[in-house]
Amino acid sequence: QSPIESSMVEAHDLLRKFYHHLLVNTKEGQDALEYLQGRGFTEEAINKFQIGYALDSWDLVYKFLIKRGFSEDLLEKSGLIIKSDKTNSYFDRFRNRIMFPITDHQGNTVAFSGRAMGDDNPKYLNSPETAIFNKSRILYNFQKARPSIRKKEQVILFEGFADCISASTAGVDNGVATMGTALTDHHIQLLRRNTDTAVICFDSDSAGLEAANRAAGLLIDSGFTIKVALMPDNMDPDDYIKKHGADKFLHEVIGASLTYTSFKMQFLRRGKNVNNEGDRIQYLEAVLKEISKLSNAVERDHYLRQIASEFSLSLDALEKQLKQIYFAGN
Ligand code: UTP
Ligand code: MN
Ligand code: MN
Ligand code: MN
Ligand code: MN
Repeated sequence: QSPIESSMVEAHDLLRKFYHHLLVNTKEGQDALEYLQGRGFTEEAINKFQIGYALDSWDLVYKFLIKRGFSEDLLEKSGLIIKSDKTNSYFDRFRNRIMFPITDHQGNTVAFSGRAMGDDNPKYLNSPETAIFNKSRILYNFQKARPSIRKKEQVILFEGFADCISASTAGVDNGVATMGTALTDHHIQLLRRNTDTAVICFDSDSAGLEAANRAAGLLIDSGFTIKVALMPDNMDPDDYIKKHGADKFLHEVIGASLTYTSFKMQFLRRGKNVNNEGDRIQYLEAVLKEISKLSNAVERDHYLRQIASEFSLSLDALEKQLKQIYFAGN
């Protein structure tokens, strides 16, 4: 770490404590605290994840950090303040937002994401890429989750901050979040150095399913064994835990997560009406192609029997078809 980088980290660490203080100890932070409590964030979670609040002010952070000896140049490069082209003066990036500090894998605060309390756009405002923050290399909560990932020999992948935090409150401490970005090779290599098993627990809306499908493929290509956890009604893990509780989340979502092939069978079915002959044939072809990739004969047999039974097809015919696909592909 260069001197400039450690200085940037120092500013972020100070500000993390300041935002947290504003949230938990001040009158100005009271609405924000009530917002979080209303969403079911516990005091313990607020402390553990060092959640904070950026006041509705244009220059409180600017003044706070300048007073502590940081230069305008450094703060601008850190993304904490922004220079106005018109007035040539600086203003705070984060205003009137719930602040989630993002740490690197040593635990240094390197960025923030600020959630609007209303319907402001964007919902989450993030720090820009800086010398200390590269979103494609950082997974939210990785530093805290790492010992548990190693111990449980499994990582749980979430999309968002709230998912990761709610899961932690529910007792799932081996979870990390991609923060809405696509899972990168860097992320995967980082995880792979700690475990070879992943449960993908993205939002069960269509964007989340697409992302899960993509992540699953990449993880498998990197030698992971994966499962995919799904929730009903387009919910995300945070919604689910708040609605149904920790126990149901553990047993009916994480515990009931699907194998890659089962997920794929469900995924390939989206938007298709299998009662329609054309759709059904398309679906069966796609599923058989997926099954043909399995190297384990027992697994192949298991899924073939499942399809044979659901669609009243003979196992024999399916096996023949599978062989054809296999030889066409080789
Ligand atoms: P979601 O849209 O699923 O939001 O984005 P969420 O996590 O469920 O948020 P809540 O529950 O409404 O508070 C998933 C993640 O994508 C990133 C954030 O990390 C978010 O947690 N994201 C989302 C952004 O960076 N910016 C955005 O505007 C939205
Ligand atoms: Mn505290
Ligand atoms: Mn989402
Ligand atoms: Mn979500
Ligand atoms: Mn959510």
